[in-house]
Amino acid sequence: MVLKIETAGFRSLMYRSGWLYNAVTRRLYDQDKKFSTIATFIGKGPKKVLDLPCGTGYLMRFLHPAIEYEGADLNHRFLKRIRKKELKKRNIKLTKIILRHKNIFDFQDYQGKKKDVIVLCDILHHIYPKHIDLINIAKKIANKIVVCEPYVINPKEISARDKLFKIVIFFGKHLPKPLLKIIDFLLLDNDGINSFQMRSQWNLDEKSLKEFYKVMGFNNVYKILDEYIAIWES
Ligand SMILES: C[S@@+](CC[C@H](N)C(=O)[O-])C[C@H]1O[C@@H](n2cnc3c(N)ncnc32)[C@H](O)[C@@H]1O
Repeated sequence: MVLKIETAGFRSLMYRSGWLYNAVTRRLYDQDKKFSTIATFIGKGPKKVLDLPCGTGYLMRFLHPAIEYEGADLNHRFLKRIRKKELKKRNIKLTKIILRHKNIFDFQDYQGKKKDVIVLCDILHHIYPKHIDLINIAKKIANKIVVCEPYVINPKEISARDKLFKIVIFFGKHLPKPLLKIIDFLLLDNDGINSFQMRSQWNLDEKSLKEFYKVMGFNNVYKILDEYIAIWES
């Protein structure tokens, strides 16, 4: 039997280190508030939660201990960081923790059939134009989906938490596309899985992201800094 392990291509600096990824995203977004809000929507008590993709496992810090958590990501460095550092350092103790080095679209490989909650955080803009497929597949096996996405914003309105990042983003948005592509490839959102060509077509602003959520059947939209969280229930 040949075992096929899916690998990713070249990743930017940010996706090569879980520590750096957390450091950058904490300066851009209110990660603690965002993930604790997502955890509140998941709720307390025994529940099966599938986190697609789990990234550096930040969500686990805020989950109720009775939860059975399953996360998948194709970034083996992020998964290694969770296994070696995150769980011990944060003293994370959930009823069950399963981490998979998997493509998020491989739904047939997730444990059991039904999930109480599927979390889709900061992923839709990475997988454009397959974002609708992911939501529709998730709907088939989840009782609840919690989605969270940043919206593309006018540089003047960027509310990155850190002043330095505000300036970097302000000038970054005005760079010519070929230069932006190189910077993205080496330093920014290049996850090694989804191409810049596709990712850069995601252009939902505050209004259209809300509209998109509504069309896809998501309600209860909450704004946290430059991101929107919304809920779908079966
Ligand atoms: C912006 S991060 C979000 C991670 C996490 N949900 C969070 O909010 O911190 C995007 C992640 O998606 C992963 N990813 C992108 N496409 C994927 C795919 N098709 N299968 C598995 N992981 C994928 C990348 O490896 C990266 O860790």
